[in-house]
Amino acid sequence: MNSPVAGAATSARLAEEVARRRTFAVISHPDAGKSTLTEALALHAKMISEAGAIHGKAGRKSTVSDWMEMEKARGISVSSTALQFEYGECVINLVDTPGHSDFSEDTYRVLTAVDAAVMLIDAAKGLEPQTLKLFQVARDRGIPVITVINKWDRPGRAPLELLDEILDRIGLTPTPLFLPVGIAGDFRGLLRRGEEGAATEYIHFTRTAGGATIAPEEHYTAEQALEREGEAWETAAEESELLSAAGQDHDQEMFLAGQTSPVIYASAMLNFGVKQILDTLIELAPAPRARKTVGGGERETTEPFSAVIFKVQAGMDTAHRDRLAFMRIVSGEFERGMVVTHAQTGRPFATKYALTVFGRERSTVDTAYPGDVVGLVNATALAPGHTLFVDKKVEFPPIPSFAPEHFATLRAKTADKYKQFRKAIDQLDSEGVVQVLRNDVRGDASPVLAAVGPMQFEVVTARMQGEYNVETQLDHLPFQLARRTDAESAAELARQRGVEVFTRTDGAILALFSDKWRLQYIQKELPKLTLEPLVAGAE
Ligand code: G4P
Repeated sequence: MNSPVAGAATSARLAEEVARRRTFAVISHPDAGKSTLTEALALHAKMISEAGAIHGKAGRKSTVSDWMEMEKARGISVSSTALQFEYGECVINLVDTPGHSDFSEDTYRVLTAVDAAVMLIDAAKGLEPQTLKLFQVARDRGIPVITVINKWDRPGRAPLELLDEILDRIGLTPTPLFLPVGIAGDFRGLLRRGEEGAATEYIHFTRTAGGATIAPEEHYTAEQALEREGEAWETAAEESELLSAAGQDHDQEMFLAGQTSPVIYASAMLNFGVKQILDTLIELAPAPRARKTVGGGERETTEPFSAVIFKVQAGMDTAHRDRLAFMRIVSGEFERGMVVTHAQTGRPFATKYALTVFGRERSTVDTAYPGDVVGLVNATALAPGHTLFVDKKVEFPPIPSFAPEHFATLRAKTADKYKQFRKAIDQLDSEGVVQVLRNDVRGDASPVLAAVGPMQFEVVTARMQGEYNVETQLDHLPFQLARRTDAESAAELARQRGVEVFTRTDGAILALFSDKWRLQYIQKELPKLTLEPLVAGAE
């Protein structure tokens, strides 16, 4: 290992492993088909032999990434996990995002751990609020986005109309790689667009029973396609030319710069276009790259091991009551058992228990590379945004918190549970389940919880009861927005009506306002006070 030749061989192998990794997340509005697509991708990667094995459907096994009773009842998934599979020469990591907008802060953290995003749109509905919000986050993070227009097997809108909507409403130029042959509801196959929109190939799909297995593909030339599909083909070919005339052809540099987005039309349910999504990921999506460090430097992927924690989760499964910290590897090779340093405390951390987790499926990881996601068991000191490293010290910038819009006090219903209550609050706070605010007036017995969405409160109370056996009382507070302030302004602000000042666990001083008019009034009357907006990505 110490000879220069062996070292060069190791780093060449590491570079190879990095080059074949693709790490991405799917961003979508609930019901656009994220679970169905995840399952279709797993089917194509031959991880499962039949669709329905992991997607929660009546009479079938429930969705693998669902973990809490509340999630089951509501049909949402809160936990972030990662699905890894090999496809061709590549290793693909699909990092799961929560399905509900109340958990967009979690989604934001996931997006700090991926190199690309697939934006999934329902062909009949077009852009929906959650898609817009998540897209904005992807843009803030500078993540290249591949657009998938799903459910083309159902009646929906015209293909170009959907593209116009993307251009107009999010300012991203869609550059289809494939166009659908047949209107929405009559999905026959895909036209592959070549240079300057030339229709290079027709890929015809055949339905399988219930979409449970891979849809067989037949490939035809443009001439054969015209003969076979007639007007449906002509329409698609014309649309392709129109797009080229408007400059909507794929450009790799513009895609990587987040200015354009390759588009694929698909039906996740019928497995139409799913292979094309995977091929696009491996051909166009970026492999892991260097990551910016505190102090303005960069950690190259081939440097010694380093990783960033993007998610901490306890009680994911009633059978495993442990606390898992998910790390995304940034550089170097990870070997289970290695002792790494936790940058925030300077303490060593032994990685004896390292897992990949996809819902209830857990398996041990022995080796992992940049781009991979590994769950570390019983990682009590680790919190989202923390850094782990070996050899050369590094620290990655913290993950910014979202601006909370919902506030409530929480207390234990009986005084004898106070100790457990405090322990639980600290635990949930460090996991990033909610933000915890405190001030001297209210004291520690009933801290204020601040959330982006009210369902975060439900997670807190359910976990308090389920994991810590503490019954709690939640009382909503009449505040609607928060601003960051400083110690000098805090005293003056605390004297104002409709305002209360708190310190968040990370040390930030936050002023809460009853409504935006109150805030505007105070800003006008007392213009010298520090009142900064808390915006994701801008903190
Ligand atoms: P999500 O994870 O994004 O929330 O969406 P999910 O995959 O659960 O899909 C939401 C609904 O959309 C499901 O219907 C699913 O079957 C359907 N769906 C997903 N992809 C496609 C597609 O390509 N074509 C069509 N036609 N439907 C699709 P459901 O009514 O909730 O369940 P089911 O009883 O129909 O299975």
